[in-house]
Amino acid sequence: MAAPTTALPASGSGFSHLLAVEDSFPLDASLPLQRSLDYCAELEAGHIIFLPSSPDLISQEDRDLLLGRRQSSSAIHKNIAYRPAEDRITGLDASEARETDELRRIMRGFSQHSAEFLSRFLIPYAGKWKLDYASYRPIEEKGRSARVHARNDLLHFDSFPTRPTNGARILRFFVNINPTESRIWLTSQTFEAFGPRFALAGNLLASVGGNSVTRGLRQAARTLKLPFGRRPLYDEFMHRCHNAMKEDAAFQDQAPKSRWEFPPNSAWMVFTDCVSHAVLSGQYALEQTFMIPQSALVKREKSPLRILQKIAGYPLTL
Ligand code: SIN
Ligand code: FE
Repeated sequence: MAAPTTALPASGSGFSHLLAVEDSFPLDASLPLQRSLDYCAELEAGHIIFLPSSPDLISQEDRDLLLGRRQSSSAIHKNIAYRPAEDRITGLDASEARETDELRRIMRGFSQHSAEFLSRFLIPYAGKWKLDYASYRPIEEKGRSARVHARNDLLHFDSFPTRPTNGARILRFFVNINPTESRIWLTSQTFEAFGPRFALAGNLLASVGGNSVTRGLRQAARTLKLPFGRRPLYDEFMHRCHNAMKEDAAFQDQAPKSRWEFPPNSAWMVFTDCVSHAVLSGQYALEQTFMIPQSALVKREKSPLRILQKIAGYPLTL
């Protein structure tokens, strides 16, 4: 099995590193609390936890069914999302109803087993997160075409335009179910290292926050439950930051990068709101997203929200 490699110069502080955890994990055993706390701290500081051998979250039969779709389905060109709260699959057409039922069963199982596993692996977050969407990613990432803001081969911090977090953090758990090919990522500096520079450049944070008068108006709009008050300044900033990073060709070209290789059947977890990341190649990954509230974090001062509020000097959440 290939080990993750650092192929381009990205040494020094402020860069994400990768922590390989070699144990095998039964789904019903918890980690010792101190070890779990240490892993949460590593993740929150912008590092990747890598499991060379994924816990058993999906049966071989179901993996084969997912991979077998490549022969049978007209929808293989789409990513599939599963919404646990509604037990609903999106990304397929009405004509694919029979396949939708099967995918829903498989994705429901993956989502539940991932949550069970992480509640025993990252104990401080258990029961406190909001279980966000899961996804199945059957598309080859290499050479995939998309508009610039949707391109995942450009370095970015994650921010979901339709799902503001109001300061909660975005934790993502991936499993590479490709039987033969690795998934390849690049990372660069963390939000702690890069975010403040970005917030100050071109007064971006100030332009998001406005002045005390506009902030007062937003507050009044919130009190009156008007739509203008609803989108948190935090999410507005993170979204603009996401777009500006992808638009910045010089940054994409010149930023020092680490290259990571996630082999078949490996798993990895990462706070993608503070790890600048890009996927270069790979096909057939499963992913579950968790929104971790500020109250569950073990190093709140490392969160993008706290870093930005320190610069702004006023609250960025609702
Ligand atoms: C992303 O969040 O940018 C995509 C990561 C992946 O699909 O590997
Ligand atoms: Fe991303």
